[in-house]
Amino acid sequence: MATARAHTNIALVKYWGKRDQKLILPETDSLSLTLDEFYTTTTVEFDEQLTADQVTINDRLLDKKNSQKVRNFLDLVRQRSGESAYARVTSHNHVPTAAGLASSASAFAALAGAASAAAGMSLDRRDLSRLARRGSGSATRSIYGGLVEWRKGDDDLTSYANPIMEDVSFNIEMLAILIDTKKKKVSSRYGMRQSVATSPYYKVWPEIVAHDMVAIKQAILAHDIDAIGQIAETNALRMHALTLSADPGFTYFNSDTLRAMNAVRTLRESGINCYFTIDAGPNVKVIYDQRNRQPIYDALTKQFGKERLVVSKPGSGIKIWND
Ligand code: ADP
Ligand code: DP6
Ligand code: CO
Repeated sequence: MATARAHTNIALVKYWGKRDQKLILPETDSLSLTLDEFYTTTTVEFDEQLTADQVTINDRLLDKKNSQKVRNFLDLVRQRSGESAYARVTSHNHVPTAAGLASSASAFAALAGAASAAAGMSLDRRDLSRLARRGSGSATRSIYGGLVEWRKGDDDLTSYANPIMEDVSFNIEMLAILIDTKKKKVSSRYGMRQSVATSPYYKVWPEIVAHDMVAIKQAILAHDIDAIGQIAETNALRMHALTLSADPGFTYFNSDTLRAMNAVRTLRESGINCYFTIDAGPNVKVIYDQRNRQPIYDALTKQFGKERLVVSKPGSGIKIWND
């Protein structure tokens, strides 16, 4: 039996598209910030007495359909470790599930850590990152804390994350505006597949990401939060253009998402630097220098209410316990 805790991460340069659906090999590199406030804790126990895998998330037992991704992942761990028993998986999300706040990132990183340890494997962080990737692409990056890069690689062996700056030595902070924490209608998996298959703009996306990766790494080296924020905001808007331009077109934005984007722009016009990024869901994350937190927090409180705001510092990498 083993337990792992992994934090979510929010991409500043997004992963949006796979070149291999089964191995989850991405079309592009990506880069993210791991967050302290949002995480998943998962316990795995292989038990000879069980006649099927049993998956409980937030105290609710999942049915066969809803536990499919987790059961496939456990099959992979069994195949690699030689463990033959079914498992009991108990997971708690300290993050809204399937709402565009990267629950799949913390979930599959934690599951990779707990399941591999419970099966007696002792993987280094690179192999954990590769294993987590098989559950959800964004989970590849949640093995590490701070600023993390996922190089797309060429195959299963070479596609994994690397920490760029695990202990973030400058004042970057992220504030999540919880606009809607219900389960989204279009999963990240389906949304990105539709974008790759049908958006005529997808062909320029790899060039955009290649350019943004170089620029953001320079900005990180320079501790330049404004440059990081600008790159992240533009990159996010270009990712969302791939959903709008799909056929049929769709969007993860709702009217409050637009309201939050405009609030950030208005703050900027008034001289308070901050930037937004948005994942596959309506919730908006604001990037800024923590020394600007107060006016940003006050302005957003007026529009959205304190109970919808979560301020987060950079978070740490995965922790695994053998219970
Ligand atoms: P998100 O924006 O939250 O990452 P995704 O569509 O990428 O949304 O992934 C959501 C899916 O991740 C869920 O439907 C579920 O299959 C899986 N998931 C979320 N939390 C957990 C968990 N704690 N354990 C196992 N799987 C999870
Ligand atoms: C917009 O990692 O959730 O958050 O690999 O199919 O599980 P699957 O998708 P997922 O997609 C994340 C998309 C994103 C951008 C990012 O995290 O890089
Ligand atoms: Co996800």
